[in-house]
Formats: sequence, structure tokens, C-alpha cells
Amino acid sequence: MITGDELFERLKDVKLGGSTCLFTLEKCHSLAPLVNRIEQLKREKNAVVLAHSYVGPEIIATVSDFSGDSYELSKWARTTSANTIVFVAVKFMAETAKLLNPDKTVLIPSRLNGCSLADSITGEDVSRLRRQFPEHTFVCYINTTVDVKAQCDVCVTSSNVYRIVDALPNDKIYFLPDRLMGQNLANYLKARGSTKTVDMWDGTCYVHEEYDPDLIRYLRLEHPGLKVASHPECHPSVVQESDFVGSTSQMLQYVAQTQAPEYFLLTECGLTSRLQLEFPNKKFVGSCTTCKYMKSNSLSDIVRVLEQPEDLDIVTLNSDDLAGAQACIDRMFDMVK
Ligand code: 13P
Ligand code: SF4
Repeated sequence: MITGDELFERLKDVKLGGSTCLFTLEKCHSLAPLVNRIEQLKREKNAVVLAHSYVGPEIIATVSDFSGDSYELSKWARTTSANTIVFVAVKFMAETAKLLNPDKTVLIPSRLNGCSLADSITGEDVSRLRRQFPEHTFVCYINTTVDVKAQCDVCVTSSNVYRIVDALPNDKIYFLPDRLMGQNLANYLKARGSTKTVDMWDGTCYVHEEYDPDLIRYLRLEHPGLKVASHPECHPSVVQESDFVGSTSQMLQYVAQTQAPEYFLLTECGLTSRLQLEFPNKKFVGSCTTCKYMKSNSLSDIVRVLEQPEDLDIVTLNSDDLAGAQACIDRMFDMVK
């Protein structure tokens, strides 16, 4: 059992982009009963809660059994022995969990199903592209729907995209759907003297594409010694101005392993909130942007799907896509090993 006072102690350092804590004592008193109800339902239903680092800190710091980046969450979903997985993130991540562990019940609390990258391309688009680029190896970012994955050769995440593409035997690569990550990938390969060429789809993440390198330059002047970490979904000009680029969990490790007076993280706000909780002695500056899809998850939605899930809350997959999509993801796990 957690009390409102204890919850407030846990969340009082979250100061999203400003100096005021989002979690007042009054708010924590209203959230504590939801936390306790979820813990009770988890025990009754043998359920685990997996949460991406972008969702609200009131979820990550309480009911979440594991929080991480999309690769780590997939690994967890693949091996969990629980009967039910509550996937607190976005729909493509919950679908990936179901793909990796089809016998489990996968519940998705968010009703705002979407992701600007996953929504930018369909399976039909990929069929057409495969006819247009018959000699290419098709690499899809994990931020894609199952029917898209089913038609691609290998899946990647932000934590392994460079490594996997570098190791592929074919020099002709088609990368989808993130154009900015594709450009960062092409720049990385070029810098290594690779002979690979990368054709790419024109999707973007509406959160990461907003960042501008001028803001980094300005903040460096204002905050001497600032360390800047960015996500590979940001524009190449942002990545080039950064001290570090990596997945959300790699950014977390970067902050954990470096000493700097201040940090600026160019990614969704949730990661900064999480780090404010985990590293209360480190200081974070700069703006951050929220993903409406990730932030559409709440503690009361988790109670709802655990108590009485409706059809919409339960992840189901089209059986025609299963084998192809599983092979695409399995190849990623094989290549990362
Ligand atoms: P990570 O795998 O780095 O957590 O990224 C997921 C994502 O959706 C980034 O916008
Ligand atoms: Fe999709 Fe961007 Fe949200 Fe990540 S932050 S889930 S890529 S819309």
C-alpha cells in the first residue's frame, strides 16, 4: 500500500521544463488509491505492467514492473511468464509484444492509438516499394504496424539501427519510415567509409522533428559545460550539434555515466521527468516536447483495462501477417546477439 504522502515524496522532483512540480500533495492523494488498486489487480490476474520511458512519471515510479526503450521492452515482453502484459506506451509497441509472445493477453490502456511514424506508411506502400526496389534489403524501424513489418527483411530500434544496417550483407538498403533517422543512418555509414546506399521513406516523428540546432547553440552559451544528448529521430543538424546520440535508454545511461553541471535532452519530455526522479542531484535544462500518444495513458486507464477490458483494449493481430512480422523481428534479435 502506498499513501498520498509517500507518492508525493517520490514525485516531487518532476519539474517538466519549468520550476513547478506537476505533482502536488493533493494530486498524489488522489492518485495513491489508483496505484494500490493496480497492484492488487496485478496480483489477482498475474499481470505485469511494461511502460515506455515517455509515459507519465506517476506510472513509471509506481506500478511499472519495467520501463525502458522499445528494444528492452520487446525483450521483456518476449520472456515474461505473466499471463497478461499491460503495455503502457503506443499501439505498435503493444502489437510487437503480442507478436513476440502470442499466447499472452496484451492490454493497451491508451485509446489514442497512434504514432506519427507508424501511421505514415501501410503494408500496401511497402508492397509497391518492394516492386520498385527489387534488389534492396528492406529495413523497418520498430515504429511500424505489423503488416508493414511482415513485408520487411529486418526490424531495428533506435538502439541498434546503425549496428544492424552496417552488418547487413547487401549494399542497397531501403529504410522506413523515418526520413530523419534514415539520413542520420546514411551519414553514419558515410563517415565509416561504408559503400552502402540508403533509400528512404518520408515519415517523421512530430515530436522530434521540432528540435532546432540553434536552440542547442544558444543553450551552450547560456550554460557552460552543458552536455547535450539527442535521439536519432531528430534532424541530422541537431544530431551533429549533440555530444551523444542514442535510444532513450542509451541517453539515460549517458546521463548516469557522465558528470556535467547540466544536461539538455532532445527527446520526449517523459525521459527528462524520469531522469529527474532517478538522478535528483543532476540538473536538466531546455525545453521538451510531449507525445500526445504516449501521454494518453493514465493510471485510471490501467485500472480500466485490468478490471474489465473491452475489445478495443485487447491487442489482436491479423494471422496473415504473423509469420512474416515475427521473422522480421527475430532477425533483429539474432543480429543483436
Ligand atoms: P526508443 O526505442 O529510443 O525508446 O524510442 C521510441 C520512440 O518512439 C521514440 O520516439
Ligand atoms: Fe511515435 Fe514520435 Fe510519439 Fe515516439 S514520440 S511514439 S515516434 S509520435
